[in-house]
Amino acid sequence: MYLIAGSTGTLGTAIANELSSSNSVHLIGRDESKLSEQSKAIGCEYTVLDLNNTPEPREFAKILDNDIEVKGLVNCIGSVLIKPLHGTSIEEFNNVITTNLFSSYFLLASFARRMKNGSALFFSSVAGTRGLSNHEAISAAKSGIEGFVRSSAATYAKDNLRINCIAPSIMDSNMSQKLLSSEAAIEISKNMHPISKIGDVNDILPVVKWLFSDESKWVTGQTIHVDGGMSTVKPR
Ligand SMILES: NC(=O)c1ccc[n+]([C@@H]2O[C@H](COP(=O)([O-])OP(=O)(O)OC[C@H]3O[C@@H](n4cnc5c(N)ncnc54)[C@H](OP(=O)(O)O)[C@@H]3O)[C@@H](O)[C@H]2O)c1
Repeated sequence: MYLIAGSTGTLGTAIANELSSSNSVHLIGRDESKLSEQSKAIGCEYTVLDLNNTPEPREFAKILDNDIEVKGLVNCIGSVLIKPLHGTSIEEFNNVITTNLFSSYFLLASFARRMKNGSALFFSSVAGTRGLSNHEAISAAKSGIEGFVRSSAATYAKDNLRINCIAPSIMDSNMSQKLLSSEAAIEISKNMHPISKIGDVNDILPVVKWLFSDESKWVTGQTIHVDGGMSTVKPR
């Protein structure tokens, strides 16, 4: 069984479609009507999760019968906030941390003990590595995820549970619609990348498939940058 959280988003939908073609999946999200439609199309079950009112992780784990083996978990729940720090309210900061970092803690804390020989996958962002102005909240949340991935990978290595994250730069998705709302904005964004392109799900899906496959069986605790070089490369 593969658990896909945030399955109704752009990446989540692509991952749900890909994984469900040859595996059992269980969807997790916040919007019951979207989840219900998506799970009908795929032929699977779903669970609604309210991040501001969660049960204890061990209670949440009961969404799956005890005898079901959890081979994979992917958290596509995320949000972005680009705002000067002094204009960021406590509520906005907390929301970014809850949506990105707390969701990752909550899902792994719920299922890690049931994932022997499995693979868990989280999403960071280029802002987790590179200091980008006005990205303080998302940078804090995503670098938090990267540290969380390294430490949890150490904790659960004894179970052969591999835990990694992918750090994309800006991709064409629901989340980036506002940021890419004009041709000029798209050009500026493209040109920020050594490989001048906006990302899309097809840049990410092969890495997801690889991290869920046996081919990556010796890879754990890693942040894999899929970002056109933006985190670390400076061309002349
Ligand atoms: N798109 C980019 O440019 C980009 C760049 C770097 C990293 N990433 C990361 O990639 C991952 C996937 O993002 P995406 O591009 O697929 O974005 P997306 O289409 O906006 O998907 C985000 C998902 O998170 C869910 N979500 C948001 N707030 C939530 C909350 N409070 N409680 C529960 N669920 C919530 C959304 O649910 P609804 O469907 O109900 O709205 C949706 O399923 C995220 O972690 C994101 O930070 C994206």
